[in-house]
Amino acid sequence: MFSSNPPLGLYIHLPWCERKCPYCDFNSHQAESIPEQEYIAALLNDLEQDLPLVWGRSIDSIFIGGGTPSLFSAAAIDRLFSGLRALVNFAPAIEITLESNPGSADAANYRGYREAGVNRLSIGVQSFDDRHLEALGRVHDGDQARQAYAEARAAGFDNVNLDLMFGLPAQDVEGACGDLEQAIALGPEHISHYQLTIEPNTLFHHRPPADLPDDESSWQQQDACEALLEAAGYRQYEVSAWSRARRESRHNLNYWHFGDYLGIGAGAHGKITLAGENRVLRRIRQRQPRAYLETAGRETVVSETELDPADLCFEFMLNALRLKHGFPTRLFHDNTGLALDLLLDELKTARDKGLLDFDATRIRPTETGFRHLNDLQALFLTPEKRSRRPIFESSEIIMHN
Ligand SMILES: C[S@@+](CC[C@H](N)C(=O)[O-])C[C@H]1O[C@@H](n2cnc3c(N)ncnc32)[C@H](O)[C@@H]1O
Ligand code: SF4
Repeated sequence: MFSSNPPLGLYIHLPWCERKCPYCDFNSHQAESIPEQEYIAALLNDLEQDLPLVWGRSIDSIFIGGGTPSLFSAAAIDRLFSGLRALVNFAPAIEITLESNPGSADAANYRGYREAGVNRLSIGVQSFDDRHLEALGRVHDGDQARQAYAEARAAGFDNVNLDLMFGLPAQDVEGACGDLEQAIALGPEHISHYQLTIEPNTLFHHRPPADLPDDESSWQQQDACEALLEAAGYRQYEVSAWSRARRESRHNLNYWHFGDYLGIGAGAHGKITLAGENRVLRRIRQRQPRAYLETAGRETVVSETELDPADLCFEFMLNALRLKHGFPTRLFHDNTGLALDLLLDELKTARDKGLLDFDATRIRPTETGFRHLNDLQALFLTPEKRSRRPIFESSEIIMHN
């Protein structure tokens, strides 16, 4: 049984990009023009429809992800926030992040987003090396990435994340470190450092680049980059997330703590606890932007699942074990409503294998467990669930920083 509802975030999906990158499996679509007005109305309609699920609760964080949210005008984002504020309570210290692509933003936009209430900007740099950026099909070069960062600071953002990728085609250890050194020199509060993964349903999957680094080289890149980040004073708190003290992404921490979030916009996922009814719902909206907009004014949720105890156990652990320093033991009960005894056998097995440590106050992966996270997470999958693909495996949720 739940004693109360978990903290609540709001994810807002803006699904359009200037061009589709060949490695990207996000719900993002190339567009010549964006129906801003219509889409903002649809987002607010989604939220209005969801209100009965979250009566009386405040929103602790908002993440506007994509796609490329920075394709939206500042005026549209301002309208969006006026509408959101009229519908829900923002917690006093709310964190509001917007994702931006350096090729699809300008200084005036950044100022407008800041004035509209956005207080954290996430910039998709990927690399500063123009050869890599071209191979990745990006719409910007390294100079534009540096300029976007300077513009973000000039617009008053004091909380900035840079997304970088490593393991890129033709990249070696020196190249990966060089990219990271440039990012560190800029001094962002947060760096998301992702290994390029070749996702099904992407151009790279159908036509893999010939010069991708092998596993050994990717490990070496990761090791060398981790040492650089640590030496520069960034602390790793999740598989791909590094931050200055107290500058962790609160929105993402809430996902990894298995907190609640509403998801509005095309293809957005939500997870909502109804503590009084002892139920947890997973909800997914219509994915295709056109079909999504056609349902405007009506319900856009296309799938609603009630999580059973086995789902809750596994999904909680799938997320929380991504945290390098683990999590307070009580969080399991707080955010699943279940007794930790249910997991005692699995916890002991993981500890016997040297993958996990736990006591009455904290559960945390060991260094080996963190390095072999898939093996550790798999221990929390019941035999019946092992044959099923977990619902909660979307890289969109795991990777939004
Ligand atoms: C929605 S995008 C960020 C905003 C904007 N669309 C952009 O690309 O600049 C989220 C981030 O996920 C990362 N990403 C996307 N696809 C990836 C992949 N296949 N492997 C590793 N990282 C990936 C990139 O670093 C990207 O910046
Ligand atoms: S990586 Fe970003 S810019 Fe590229 S297609 Fe995906 S969402 Fe769009």
